[in-house]
Amino acid sequence: MEYEITYDVLKDEHKEEVANVYSITFSRAPWYSNYTPKDTLGFLEDAMRRKGFICLVAKLADKVVGFSWGFLVPDEDVRNITFTKIRKMLSDKGIDADTCFYGAVTAVLPDFQRRGIGTELITRRTELAREHGVTGLLNRTKNDNMVKSYKKVFGEENVITLFNDPILSDRMWYYTKLNNTKS
Ligand SMILES: CC(C)(COP(=O)(O)OP(=O)(O)OC[C@H]1O[C@@H](n2cnc3c(N)ncnc32)[C@H](O)[C@@H]1OP(=O)(O)O)[C@@H](O)C(=O)NCCC(=O)NCCS
Repeated sequence: MEYEITYDVLKDEHKEEVANVYSITFSRAPWYSNYTPKDTLGFLEDAMRRKGFICLVAKLADKVVGFSWGFLVPDEDVRNITFTKIRKMLSDKGIDADTCFYGAVTAVLPDFQRRGIGTELITRRTELAREHGVTGLLNRTKNDNMVKSYKKVFGEENVITLFNDPILSDRMWYYTKLNNTKS
């Protein structure tokens, strides 16, 4: 198939499509969630209020086929993440949460996966985060493909496995110190 993917920062006109991409991709393995687009639009709008929010979209012509968003590590708990606890656990590992970016969600429509879009979204999102003084990147997942994407961007040895999530124990936290990496 002939196609050219372009990347853009989130605009209002993308929000509903981003919510749809989220709902579709997370209805599959390994998540099997039943989030409606209304639910996921709510998650996006909540994230947009967070300090340091960044969201990039990947488009085929005008159609959104993927996105990646995150924000600075909050100092309060958010939906299903006890950041107050996580901050303490990070501090115990010598990680300063105040300058860390939490890579919350990256998703690419199933038909467009495995074409490098996920790694490109993470790379570009990280470049923007760096410009805002971020020194470390955190993410939490149970999807091995997500971890592989991070390792592809930052190098295998730079993606450090930290600990299981204290609430959702099937999810693992990962950390990348950005000044060690070129991406
Ligand atoms: C994780 C995700 C965003 C990756 O996006 P993507 O565009 O497919 O990623 P890339 O094409 O850049 O692939 C990067 C690497 O990840 C690994 N990978 C990605 N998809 C894979 C698959 N289906 N099977 C095996 N490895 C895979 C590969 O190592 C790949 O590198 P390679 O193609 O050079 O071997 C995508 O699979 C997705 O949307 N998954 C569902 C949503 C999700 O779980 N998001 C993470 C939430 S925390």
